[in-house]
Amino acid sequence: MDSLLYPVIVPFAFPQGLPRDRQRAWSRLYSRAALGVSARLSGAPCGPCAKDARGAPLPFEGWRWTVSDTQGLAAALVARRPAGIDVERIRPVSSALLRRLATDAEWERAGGREPETAVRLFSAKEAVLKAVGAGLAGLAKCGLEGRGPEGNTLLLSFAGRPYRVVQTFLKDAVVSVALDAHPGADVAWTVCCPWPDPGPGVRL
Ligand SMILES: CC(C)(COP(=O)(O)OP(=O)(O)OC[C@H]1O[C@@H](n2cnc3c(N)ncnc32)[C@H](O)[C@@H]1OP(=O)(O)O)[C@@H](O)C(=O)NCCC(=O)NCCS
Repeated sequence: MDSLLYPVIVPFAFPQGLPRDRQRAWSRLYSRAALGVSARLSGAPCGPCAKDARGAPLPFEGWRWTVSDTQGLAAALVARRPAGIDVERIRPVSSALLRRLATDAEWERAGGREPETAVRLFSAKEAVLKAVGAGLAGLAKCGLEGRGPEGNTLLLSFAGRPYRVVQTFLKDAVVSVALDAHPGADVAWTVCCPWPDPGPGVRL
């Protein structure tokens, strides 16, 4: 089984005046572009990218795919092993979400509840929930077990099964890739050029 994974991040801008209800569709264009680049780097065929009734991606020809998008950033990964990707902007997190996200013991392991730590944990959990196909409904079964020896790794579990989450940090965002705990698997990040040129005033 391949041990190097190729997550791809694509910064993008919304066209001026694009209505809010069209922004998700626009973002998806970029997560699919990222998917194409990841497929190419991984040596995977390109799709079909079908989903099950829950909205979870269905594997094709033994390959799994996972995508994420947020304001101005899209990310994707095609891999032979179970994997989930998530991208989040670092921002203040409501106290209600902080309570729902983790127990006191987990916050202690995380090292505090500052926005960067909280968003990092939120993103890591979302990535694991995507790797297992559970979505947010599975949040209560997902726990932070500790931090990896490298500063960019968190160790999580889902229903007792271990997951390793490798993260990379952009200016004000974190991208997480959750892998089943395969000791040899590693991650080679690709960040594409902003596309199209977003112009001044757009956060990347
Ligand atoms: C999966 C989920 C965590 C995505 O998080 P998000 O921050 O809203 O959105 P992201 O951009 O990071 O990810 C969206 C992608 O997740 C994928 N996805 C959706 N449900 C998924 C699941 N159950 N398992 C794995 N991946 C899933 C889809 O590919 C989707 O992208 P697409 O619509 O462009 O194909 C969340 O939306 C979710 O749980 N959805 C399922 C609905 C659900 O369980 N609702 C109960 C809420 S309590």
